[in-house]
Amino acid sequence: MAKKKTVWYCTECGYESPKWMGQCPSCGAWNTMQEETVVKETGASATSRNRSLFNPENTRPVPLSEISTDIENRTSLGGKELDRVLGGGMVSGSIVLLGGEPGIGKSTLSLQIPLKCNKLTTLYVSGEESAKQIKLRGERLGGEQKNCMVLAETLLENIIDQARNIKPDLLIIDSIQTIYSQNIDSSAGSVSQVKECAATLLRYAKETGTPVIIIGHITKDGSIAGPKILEHIVDVVLQFEGDTRQSFRILRSIKNRFGSTDELAVYQMTGTGLEEIVNPSELFMPMHGTDLSGIAIAAMIDGSRPFLIEVQALVSTAAYGTPQRSATGFDVRRMNMLLAVLEKRVGFKLSQKDVFLNISGGIKIDDPACDLAIIAAILSSNFDIPLSQRTAFIGEAGLSGEIRPASQTEKRIAEAAKLGFEKVFISKYEKIPGLTAGQPHPEIIRISTIADLVKATFR
Ligand code: TYD
Ligand code: MG
Repeated sequence: MAKKKTVWYCTECGYESPKWMGQCPSCGAWNTMQEETVVKETGASATSRNRSLFNPENTRPVPLSEISTDIENRTSLGGKELDRVLGGGMVSGSIVLLGGEPGIGKSTLSLQIPLKCNKLTTLYVSGEESAKQIKLRGERLGGEQKNCMVLAETLLENIIDQARNIKPDLLIIDSIQTIYSQNIDSSAGSVSQVKECAATLLRYAKETGTPVIIIGHITKDGSIAGPKILEHIVDVVLQFEGDTRQSFRILRSIKNRFGSTDELAVYQMTGTGLEEIVNPSELFMPMHGTDLSGIAIAAMIDGSRPFLIEVQALVSTAAYGTPQRSATGFDVRRMNMLLAVLEKRVGFKLSQKDVFLNISGGIKIDDPACDLAIIAAILSSNFDIPLSQRTAFIGEAGLSGEIRPASQTEKRIAEAAKLGFEKVFISKYEKIPGLTAGQPHPEIIRISTIADLVKATFR
């Protein structure tokens, strides 16, 4: 007989407790305990359920020497960039969690996989959309639809049954928050359901060697809805980022048991689905032919990829008593710090000026090596003197106004060279031995302080 009881779960970390608590003892979050009804099965039925999912043949211990390494068999998912982010394709029996805000393109990206790789038999399970809606989307995306099986279902046990019948090469679950298991009484999307469903899918993946892609929603604060436990269960966590009003999307690997987490891919949302952008720098470069004041180009690195992006600043006399400071795509506190350095160390009176900063393309930057470009853009707007758009800036600013070396500077310079940049400003203390031996590169200008930058560009 099944016995009903209620359990309190922390929505942040999935901690389980028999009673309510104000603060989760595991992760320390306040007011996150939520009551959920669970059915605790007594002995026999619980074991038989587990047995039916587990194949005892696969759970025998084996000597390490006898394990073949083809478990790391990788399947290409039909996109060079996507495969690279996964570390060279999807490993069989692995689970990938694809997270992102609503409307960012998770369903689009995952439906594009079977349409592009028509050799893979894919089972696309949707708990969000009807089969008809998926068909309409598929038609818009184009490609071969024959091997893409669609199942509009939310009951986990039925999904697993169907997957066992069809034996797909790839299983896609859209999304984990909409499916539920009948073994648990709480509603779909609750901590206990998400945990149970993910664990069952994990068992299915490991037992049959089928790669599984799970789509997960993201909460306002940027974490994957449902407990952190979901991130622990899966092998790879990919996060889709970007501004839904803009067409650029960044797919970032934030956990990868089979590859590097430094990888990212850039996509553009078009009328016919997501297109991979092989050369992202070209996308973020200025569109205007003439040089305008307040614009500087930063050579930033995100993950392991160099990008050249446009930083825009506007400095104007404050209309009201308190000057406004606003930054889009950049940390306002860091901007304030840079403004304080400019005021104290270089003597610019910016405290009575409004300062607005914008990073083009809806990109968010947190690479400290972009400081120099931000300072250059602010000063350019302040003096109303345009900078050449063929000049890139690399360097971190210190509190005393010194310009510090950046990481992977050679990579950044190489990217600038590829895009035809003529000059690159870097720190005087930068060591770039690979550059002198290598191919032709832009003119390198070394500066040690912000004052040097002013002398070199605005005098
Ligand atoms: P979707 O994949 O449904 O997002 P998610 O599953 O992450 O919630 O993407 C929806 C958005 O993408 C929607 O606003 C419409 C847009 N879109 C296009 O611009 N072109 C396309 O070809 C498709 C399929 C969607
Ligand atoms: Mg969707």
